[in-house]
Amino acid sequence: MTTLLSDPNPLFARLPKGPPDPQWWQTIQGIFRPLEYSEAARKRYGDIFTFRFLNAYYVVVCDPQGIQKIFTADPDLFDSGKANAAFFQPSLGENSLVLLDGKRHQRQRKLLMPPFHGERMRTYGRLICEIAEQTVDRWQIGEPFVMRDATQDISLRVILRAVFGLAEGDRLQQLRHTLTQMLEVTASPLRASLLFVPALQRDLGAWSPWGRFLRLRQQVDDLIYAEIADRRQQEPGEDILSLMMSARDEDGKPMTDVELRDELMTLLFAGHETTATALAWAFYWIHHQPEVGEKLLRELDGVGADADPVEVARLPYLHAVCCETLRICPVVLFTFARMLKAPFEVMGYQLEPGTVLLPSIYLTHRREDLYPEPEKFKPERFLERKYSAYEFIPFGGGDRLCIGYAFAQYEMKLVLATAMQCVRLQLANRRPVVPVRRGLTMSPSGGVRMVAIDRRQ
Ligand code: HEM
Repeated sequence: MTTLLSDPNPLFARLPKGPPDPQWWQTIQGIFRPLEYSEAARKRYGDIFTFRFLNAYYVVVCDPQGIQKIFTADPDLFDSGKANAAFFQPSLGENSLVLLDGKRHQRQRKLLMPPFHGERMRTYGRLICEIAEQTVDRWQIGEPFVMRDATQDISLRVILRAVFGLAEGDRLQQLRHTLTQMLEVTASPLRASLLFVPALQRDLGAWSPWGRFLRLRQQVDDLIYAEIADRRQQEPGEDILSLMMSARDEDGKPMTDVELRDELMTLLFAGHETTATALAWAFYWIHHQPEVGEKLLRELDGVGADADPVEVARLPYLHAVCCETLRICPVVLFTFARMLKAPFEVMGYQLEPGTVLLPSIYLTHRREDLYPEPEKFKPERFLERKYSAYEFIPFGGGDRLCIGYAFAQYEMKLVLATAMQCVRLQLANRRPVVPVRRGLTMSPSGGVRMVAIDRRQ
């Protein structure tokens, strides 16, 4: 079995150069100042460098050719699930797609991918618009609110309805409430350390951070298991839980309750926090640069408020605004780590089994040669140029490509369009908004305070 490359190991000498700072300092920087620290390392060491986090060494890559080599390599060359287990297992469980490798990973992806694409995904269009409208209707003219809370509410409702097929009711409300509380436990940079540092994961009672996390997780589990039990008594529906319950493996065996729970948690977590954050950033940028908002409104006015969601999702400027948002403020800074199971050459380095590769989404999106004036929000760049799957990588790539990439963009477009067509918004203050750690993702500081100034219809 391959294990993570860690001290003491003679192969270190062959890794690309990287910051010489002690491991504990690099770990702290990785949690609290990942953007600044990785930018500085890239400037000093180039497009491939070694970064130390906890007791492991990560080879960070932000060169499109290097990333292409990783994304197009034989998936059997990597253990990804194992390399990411420590960060994801506490929330998602050991049967989560994120933690699987090899045949089991491929099989689960095949099962989970279709509902998030094509015709099946489009059936959720009206639902997304309806949920967005209900939230927008609650915004009071002149009363500031936190946009990220609003987008989280929308994306959580969407995923609970689409994945679980849950109708409004007690269980849906309880799940929404408890999941939100569970995510809050690790929402600040300091509290996010809980997810990264196993030594902090101690249950010292209900008031200790980890104790609280475990108790909330138990409550979420109870709700999920209750739903699974109820659903076993009912006719299967159109939702993703029904689909998973009717799936059989090659021996004809269905998924167990624990497997179902882990996959549901994965979809809930991966599917709503990320989209909520991306949407909050989109609202921020559109209103930070009012000319972007005006151009977008002109495009939306062209199709009208009752347009078919599929037509809305095809609008080119709306698409460009979403892409530019995901480029400039990627919700996750890195793709999942890929641990080598066999020797692999990338960018002139011959890397050995156990080495962990980490394509950097953030650094790739900040390349001056691909994105001139990378710190500026310019949706037009996506109208003027087509970027390859190794240059624009907000959803990662290869056999780990985010299964929800089409769904997330569809949801972003429909929520933005619905809100922009219903109300006029502005930022509630001019305070700078910067990316800060929120669990495993990066989110706008303060959540983006906004205010509705007028209703449009
Ligand atoms: C803006 C929203 C989203 C962003 C930025 C995002 C980003 C990512 C990234 C970067 C990865 C890792 C890919 C890699 O390592 O190559 C990933 C994986 C994944 N995402 Fe997303 N995601 C989003 C929304 C969603 C949604 C809506 C769902 C499903 C409902 C979802 C489900 C998953 C799953 C299950 C994986 C693991 C795939 C695997 O291991 O094979 N994500 N996502």
